[in-house]
Amino acid sequence: MLLKAVKLKKSFNSTWFKTGETPAVVDAGFSLNPGETIGIVGKSGAGKTTLGLMLAGVIKPDFGQIFYKGEDIWALTRRKRRRMQQHIQMIFQHPESTFNPKWKISRSLMEPCRLHKMPVSEDTIIKWAERVGLAEDVLYRYPMQLSGGELQRIAIARAMSISPAILVLDEPVSMLDTSTKAQIIRVIKKIQASTCAACIFISHDVDIARLICNRMYKLENHVLR
Ligand SMILES: Nc1ncnc2c1ncn2[C@@H]1O[C@H](COP(=O)(O)OP(=O)(O)OP(=O)(O)O)[C@@H](O)[C@H]1O
Ligand SMILES: [Mg+2]
Repeated sequence: MLLKAVKLKKSFNSTWFKTGETPAVVDAGFSLNPGETIGIVGKSGAGKTTLGLMLAGVIKPDFGQIFYKGEDIWALTRRKRRRMQQHIQMIFQHPESTFNPKWKISRSLMEPCRLHKMPVSEDTIIKWAERVGLAEDVLYRYPMQLSGGELQRIAIARAMSISPAILVLDEPVSMLDTSTKAQIIRVIKKIQASTCAACIFISHDVDIARLICNRMYKLENHVLR
């Protein structure tokens, strides 16, 4: 088993006019095998992004454990956890907020490799852009000069650049029009076919999730079923 979540719970502090904590995710548990794609579906506010952020190691659960290859990621030292995080990459719901607006796309694309001290060259990133169906010229533009669909494809290329074992995709197509959605779905299918990465596909759209997922979980009222 690649990833196992056990009884994950996360609440956020309430606003000034409410008392007590607001639960976002309650007792979520599931498993993910190498190479498979699971879906996490649910309505807006159900807790999907919160669950995704916990799985990617971005936020710490209040209770519960996440095991990556049998190791409890929050029991690791910070250094070991950072190294482990290289293997679980997340595509965020709003890709534009994950790019430095002052950096050309080429620099953003090279950043994960630089961070993890892996070799990367201009030729390599051109190949990555081609793999997600983009021409070389987008690499020399700034994020605001790309469309939402192009930026999402670059975000996928960037996440895959360090060959993660797991890709967490948080609503990767929700902001896009129908034909751009189809293009991104094709890119995800290509990744499924050409790499052994497992995917966690988060979506409010069950029909889209069905297109690419082997199994599905539903988040309802913050509870995963
Ligand atoms: N940082 C935060 N501080 C306070 N409350 C939060 C925070 N993040 C999320 N929440 C609350 O937790 C609940 C779950 O939010 P979350 O973003 O996980 O839902 P979601 O299923 O991803 O929704 P959507 O489909 O709209 O993206 C919501 O009620 C939200 O307001
Ligand atoms: Mg969300």
